[in-house]
Amino acid sequence: MDPNDVKMMAVVGAGLMGNSIAQTFARAGIEVNLVDVGDEALAHAMALIRSSLEVLEEHGALPQGEDIDAIISRIHPSSDMESSVQGVDFVVEAVPEVPEVKKEVFARLDELLPEEVVIASNTSGLDIYSFAEVARPERLLIAHWFLPPHIIPLVEVVPGPDTAAEAVDFTAALLERMGKKPVVMKGFTRAFIVNKIQNMMALAVFELLGSGLVEPEDIDRAVKYSLGIRLPVIGVVQTMDFTGLDLVLDVGKSYGFSNPFIEEKVEKGLLGVKTSRGIYDYGGRAEPEVLAKRDGLFLRMLANLEDMDAFEPV
Ligand SMILES: NC(=O)c1ccc[n+]([C@@H]2O[C@H](COP(=O)([O-])OP(=O)(O)OC[C@H]3O[C@@H](n4cnc5c(N)ncnc54)[C@H](O)[C@@H]3O)[C@@H](O)[C@H]2O)c1
Repeated sequence: MDPNDVKMMAVVGAGLMGNSIAQTFARAGIEVNLVDVGDEALAHAMALIRSSLEVLEEHGALPQGEDIDAIISRIHPSSDMESSVQGVDFVVEAVPEVPEVKKEVFARLDELLPEEVVIASNTSGLDIYSFAEVARPERLLIAHWFLPPHIIPLVEVVPGPDTAAEAVDFTAALLERMGKKPVVMKGFTRAFIVNKIQNMMALAVFELLGSGLVEPEDIDRAVKYSLGIRLPVIGVVQTMDFTGLDLVLDVGKSYGFSNPFIEEKVEKGLLGVKTSRGIYDYGGRAEPEVLAKRDGLFLRMLANLEDMDAFEPV
């Protein structure tokens, strides 16, 4: 199916993530059946949808000519999963991160849906492929959104060993239609990309907090005044090209890290920006040219963050 032809979808689980994911599809003009086990959860979800749409409206982020009531009229809350998935073109699963609950929902969806309809799980990191009992594993995949889904662009798309390439391509294209920025992985790894990195950061924060060597607020000040300016512009991988991969390797060694990927680059003399090739290829651009571009972006980022008072706690 062409993702542009998707007219109706369902979100199963109307909690923190599900209400916001539903709102995102509805904003793109798609009819959304929002399913939960109880009327109270559904009423709460609809109230949250209205308040988050009000914030988007206040910031000029609603589609032109659309008002909140028109968007909400495309969201149909229901506690009946069977009728809610009739005729849908795509399903998002956003029930609690409990394998038994997800397993039951996958099996039920697999039974109810025509074989071509993709089931996209929003699991934070469960290996659903190891426990899902579905007759059609080709149409099951992970599409992992980030809080709050109606604002954060990234969705990590993580196929399992039996997921069909068409299901992955379809999901990525549909997410792009929603204005999202999907990143497609080649297979499952626990915690995917961002949470894997975030978990390492959390470990470091726990160590620092436990050590008593620094005040909690100063950890955030330190991160905001350094990584906070650099990461949006050069990410975590390209940062290494700016550091110089030879230095990255030496620093890694001093901590006892083995790093075959970086080692191979260094052996080939690909050291980063200073050799015009590292992990990225700078297309023969000389170091001063690349640094000038980076610095211009850093200066704009710094000015914007200062303008927004972003260095103060929210
Ligand atoms: N909260 C986050 O920051 C976040 C971020 C990314 C992914 N996730 C993942 O998204 C999923 C949902 O998380 P959440 O934070 O929205 O949880 P939540 O507890 O807020 O919402 C889950 C909802 O599912 C409903 N539910 C339970 N069983 C159901 C069933 N059989 N059928 C239909 N609805 C059912 C619950 O009533 C609840 O409203 C989890 O897998 C979680 O790991 C969460």
